[in-house]
Amino acid sequence: MKFAIGSDHAGFELKEKLKKYLTSKNIEVIDVGTNSTESVDYPDFAEKVGKLINNKEVDFGILICGTGIGMSIAANKIKGIRAALCTIPEMAALSRKHNNANVLVLPGRLIGYELATWIFDAFINATFEGGRHERRVNKIKALEE
Ligand code: RB5
Repeated sequence: MKFAIGSDHAGFELKEKLKKYLTSKNIEVIDVGTNSTESVDYPDFAEKVGKLINNKEVDFGILICGTGIGMSIAANKIKGIRAALCTIPEMAALSRKHNNANVLVLPGRLIGYELATWIFDAFINATFEGGRHERRVNKIKALEE
């Protein structure tokens, strides 16, 4: 399992901590930035992570901004990306089981590191259930045409 991770300045600190967490779990991670708390524009990092997923260079992405809202809006504009903003582990598990989410979005200014690791664990430990959920995800894909 390989992840791409990106954040803006508001998500930078949580990104750095989560990156180490992934590495400690032997999960390969590509960090697309940002690399400091200097102000940047979140869509630039959503685009980089989305491209790595669509080019099949990684399996999943993590995006972090202050609220997670800007990253969600931006990432979900990219064809093929299903980005889920999650604030509790149950949301992360269901985003995989029901929505086949390929990007986990976290609100860096609203949750702490420990909760973020629980949300991440729930995301990677769940798998897409297919069936009726596949029909619905296919309808989302049809909206992209
Ligand atoms: C940056 O100040 C903030 O607007 C951004 O991190 C994010 O929360 C936007 O949705």
